[in-house]
Amino acid sequence: MVTPGSAPQAVFVIKTKELEKLTTDFFRNEMSKIPAQLKNSGVKFVDVLLPESEKFKNLFNDDAEYFYQTFVEGILLGNYEFSKYKSEKKKPSKLEVRFYSDSPAAAKGIKNGIALIDSVYFTRDLVNEPAITLTPQELAARIRKRFSGTGVKVKVLNKNEILKRKMNALYSVGKGSANPPLLIELHYKPAKAKSKIALVGKGVTYDSGGYSIKPTDGMVDMKADMAGAAAVVGILDAAAKLKMPVELYGVIPAVENLINGNSYKPGDIVSTASGKTIEVKNTDAEGRIILADALEYASAKKPEKIIDFATLTGACVVALGEYAAGLFSKDEEIENKFKSIGEKTFELVWPLPFRDEYSKLLESDIADISNLGPRWGGAITAAKFLEFFVDKSVEYAHIDIAGPAMKNKLSNYTEKWNTGYGVRLTVEYLKSL
Ligand code: BES
Ligand code: MN
Ligand code: ZN
Repeated sequence: MVTPGSAPQAVFVIKTKELEKLTTDFFRNEMSKIPAQLKNSGVKFVDVLLPESEKFKNLFNDDAEYFYQTFVEGILLGNYEFSKYKSEKKKPSKLEVRFYSDSPAAAKGIKNGIALIDSVYFTRDLVNEPAITLTPQELAARIRKRFSGTGVKVKVLNKNEILKRKMNALYSVGKGSANPPLLIELHYKPAKAKSKIALVGKGVTYDSGGYSIKPTDGMVDMKADMAGAAAVVGILDAAAKLKMPVELYGVIPAVENLINGNSYKPGDIVSTASGKTIEVKNTDAEGRIILADALEYASAKKPEKIIDFATLTGACVVALGEYAAGLFSKDEEIENKFKSIGEKTFELVWPLPFRDEYSKLLESDIADISNLGPRWGGAITAAKFLEFFVDKSVEYAHIDIAGPAMKNKLSNYTEKWNTGYGVRLTVEYLKSL
């Protein structure tokens, strides 16, 4: 491990643990500590001698490329910061990290990792941006800019187009803000596609709760209530860059859930584009209302599968903690794949019940469905609400990311900034198709 022309300035010794005790996140997590440790230390180069993948092949199901990818993911994820609002600008100290290996898989893994984490950075920048800046309009503008000149087409439906299509559910949640609601559609269509999948992402750029207002403590982090939308954007970004052979739609309903004289209210009845009616019992259960219209819109694209990502319920975080997302699906293949790919990427996923018995809890006397279930099982009834708006012939999965999308102590690199959860997970899932 020698830097050409000079002596090595730093050597990292990764503690040798018993191999069975290592998780797939071990090297990613260890590498992610390096940038912070060396910041402003004057060290300019780090040389990393990559271990042979052979020893770790059980952890990574023989995927040597992915094993090496975790090293570069760690460095880059650990180097992320969101410091644009610090008035004192530190100029970033430059650290060159060089990886050494004889394996051809290492070169590929490193290249993939760099491309992928660039997409995760884009997602994280969106989620960490305060709502004062990141309105539905700004979200759409950044998406347009990101994808201009790429293979991804972006279409934005404004308030009038939303009303013309009778997406009154989406419109109602957004009408209490000076920044009107939007529906953002992304489309990536490679020359040869193995399958067609629609990804739907909750895009509440701020969730005050509306008239069912949240206490301040519950509101401070609600700029991140568009993390599902941001994940969908990052997934399409990576898929297009990596030229993945799957056709993807991204559908993002974008609103601010605020209060004014025009806001929707508890007791209102709102309808989706298909005509299904919703009794609004709580304006803070707004995500499912906007997703109703978005899931109908996605169904009309006739995809094989619809997967949605949403910071949907605090109840999911109560159930699983912050380290795993809740997965709701009747498709065993989706369930098994997401669970095992969650282990591999360390974007953890845990299946929760999705039985039809729970749907009864959403019955409404006055409309087709109520947006609020009883106190218990809130993540499940929310998921059943969403399913009501998905075409029955389409395989469906809902992923509640309210926990892991927010900064948390799972890993060193998720601790400080909102995480960009879902991009690494889903790109790996799409690869497996
Ligand atoms: N955006 C919140 C859920 C949330 C909570 C995300 C904490 C991330 C962290 C969602 O819109 C919400 O307010 N859900 C309510 C639903 C309830 C009113 C049925 C909740 O979880 O309390
Ligand atoms: Mn809410
Ligand atoms: Zn919300």
